[in-house]
Amino acid sequence: MDSFIIKGQNKLQGTVKVSGAKNAILPIMIASLLTSGKSILTNVPSLNDLKNTAHLLRFLGAKVETELDQMAIDTVAVHHYVAPYELVNKMRASIYVLGPLLARFKYAEVALPGGCAIGTRPVDLHLMAMEKLGAKIKIEHGYISAECPDGLRGGIIEFPFITVGATANCLMAAVLAKGETLIKNTAQEPDIDSLIDCLILMGAKIEKINKNDLHVIGVDELKPFTMEMIPDRIEAGTLLLAAAITKSSITITNCEPNHLEALLIKMEQAGCRFEISSSLQGDIKQKKANQIKIHPAVSINPVDIVTEPYPGFPTDLQAQFLAYLCLARGKSHIKETIFPDRFMHVSELNRLGADIHVKDGMAIINGVSGFSGAEVMATDLRASATLVLAGLAAEGTTKISRIYHIDRGYEKIEQKLNNLGADIKRC
Ligand code: UD1
Repeated sequence: MDSFIIKGQNKLQGTVKVSGAKNAILPIMIASLLTSGKSILTNVPSLNDLKNTAHLLRFLGAKVETELDQMAIDTVAVHHYVAPYELVNKMRASIYVLGPLLARFKYAEVALPGGCAIGTRPVDLHLMAMEKLGAKIKIEHGYISAECPDGLRGGIIEFPFITVGATANCLMAAVLAKGETLIKNTAQEPDIDSLIDCLILMGAKIEKINKNDLHVIGVDELKPFTMEMIPDRIEAGTLLLAAAITKSSITITNCEPNHLEALLIKMEQAGCRFEISSSLQGDIKQKKANQIKIHPAVSINPVDIVTEPYPGFPTDLQAQFLAYLCLARGKSHIKETIFPDRFMHVSELNRLGADIHVKDGMAIINGVSGFSGAEVMATDLRASATLVLAGLAAEGTTKISRIYHIDRGYEKIEQKLNNLGADIKRC
């Protein structure tokens, strides 16, 4: 198993390009199942979560080919409707195949995903949505089996709280259901907007009504698509925090500053400053902002954070921000409302010299003067990014084991950071 060895306290400088967004790409890859033909995705990074999703699509009969940052998915020969445990276990987002398979083939079997390092993660709302669209669902032998011999029918679905996964699944089912569907209290994440853009490109009829509701008119069939994937706001945020924690100034390019508003506000409260600009050529009015230069805080102010659905502060940046706040002057608080047990990284950060206590889904962080390098273990994707950030700031050497977690969601992270001046070796 690979480890990272980080020699800490190097200053970072220069420019780094943000990759395509894993959490937007996963549902879009799976949306290709809604049609028969070859769809093309561009700006696709090389990530293990995406490779696992490609395995699942191939298992179902699709052809998936990648070349540089382009992925082609041909779904003409899809003939299997089962997502087996070995694949679902590796890739929780495999549950996304439930909606598209049901909608197109009227049958789907998906292994029940178990819990994972960040919490219990139930799928009851995915199932509730499919039932409202007319599917009959049984759970047996660890598998969800769902069928709708006469096809899905439109319905009214109201989520009791915001769920990204169930919103995506429900949407992918509703676009091919007969009649109209109203989905209430949907997630607003850029990943969902990007899925909506993709489905509309495929010929779906989806309209946003109010801020949180979607109106879908089912169509008989959808067509293949070619689409560029949006930039990864979580990778962008992690890179900005890498600069902030090492008190360095860097520029991130190919990003979408609007998607990072909640993070930038909190980093400004901590004392950082940002310059947002465009690297694009052309008329000033058409130049979309796509890069951010960070000027770090010299002395970090303590900050309080509550994780919330978008546009609130993302749970996927909680761990990384927590590492940063360890070096603040004073006491900070982080309340995790999405996954209250998502604090596995705390004990590892404490091994590096942090002073953090967790109680009732809240981390209380007493600022310390610095981290001191030690051996630590990554427990999940974002927790491993946190340990990398702490290692970059630590005095001495930090060894992080089990970094396979980081390869799930960050493309060539050590290469990107080393190009900025970090000293990270994979061994
Ligand atoms: C969540 C995050 C997403 C993040 C991802 C990986 C939110 C709203 N969602 O998405 O930003 O990228 O984790 O870290 O921030 N739930 C149920 N029943 C269900 C589905 C969900 O109770 O059927 C609960 C979950 O346990 C959780 C909340 O709803 O407490 C939000 O879950 P959901 O958004 O669906 O999770 P992910 O799609 O994994």
